Amino acid sequence: RVQFDLWDSDDVPVPRKELLQKVKGVDALVCVLTEKIDAELLDAAGPNLKVLSTMSVGFDHLSLEELKKRGIRVGYTPDVLTDSVAELTVALLLTTSRRLIEATHEAKSGGWGTWRTLWLCGYELANSTVGILGLGRIGVAIAERLKPFKVKKFIYTDVAPRPELASLIDAEYVSMDELASQSDFLTVCCALTPETKDICNKDLFSKMKNTSIFINTSRGGVVDQEDLYEALSSGQIAGAGLDVTVPEPLPTSHPLFTLNNCVILPHIASASYSTRNAMSALAANNLLLGLKGQPMIKELKL
Ligand code: DGY
Repeated sequence: RVQFDLWDSDDVPVPRKELLQKVKGVDALVCVLTEKIDAELLDAAGPNLKVLSTMSVGFDHLSLEELKKRGIRVGYTPDVLTDSVAELTVALLLTTSRRLIEATHEAKSGGWGTWRTLWLCGYELANSTVGILGLGRIGVAIAERLKPFKVKKFIYTDVAPRPELASLIDAEYVSMDELASQSDFLTVCCALTPETKDICNKDLFSKMKNTSIFINTSRGGVVDQEDLYEALSSGQIAGAGLDVTVPEPLPTSHPLFTLNNCVILPHIASASYSTRNAMSALAANNLLLGLKGQPMIKELKL
């Protein structure tokens, strides 16, 4: 018989203090990306804890080293959210490049005057070069959806070429510098790791075209937000669409919110009913299989 203790609120994350108390002695734990699973929490849980299941594909909130040290198995939820994240990325890209938020605001607030030749012009995907920073399942799914928009070329960079994935979308491997200078649309799809932290910084933005659009649906930590603000406000790049920021939520007083050429969403890339259902079912099944000592459906190799 399995006994559960549940944090039953979607409005606020479980307070850290309460979590540290409640985890004492548990055999398994399901978490979402708002919970830091670190040495402090694992110590509070104690030696019974053998299985952790996160309802996310990202695992930058987990101290993998600490989990490994304690022999704790870890489940996560890749694949089931790929379609939803790719769809949202395309939606955010078009919203940013065709200036839809500015446009609806103008229409509603009386800014819509006579038809004007250059008013609210943006950038189109047809004949463009799309760059993918970190080619995985999600990057491929984004490219597959963008292809019918008549993209001319897909390029990508990663720690090493990924020929099997790249061949699915006919993407060319390039250096980080080439990715920056050639992309009309640069979409970030890499995981947040010590190596990718702040990888999108002044150096990258300064090599981008001033007609380029930057999109991030991975993790806010891969972007140096001060450098991004500078690049957007100085016209170094044309626009940015972000589904992820540091911190989350991004304070409403943050300078990025003052920019017309920056579209900010509240981390909703996987937020479709079917995907969130699939993620929670997968997280629950990973947990139960882990408890039974069986292979999980999706388990991180530590
Ligand atoms: C994840 O799963 O890591 C996403 O950021 C939220 O679905």
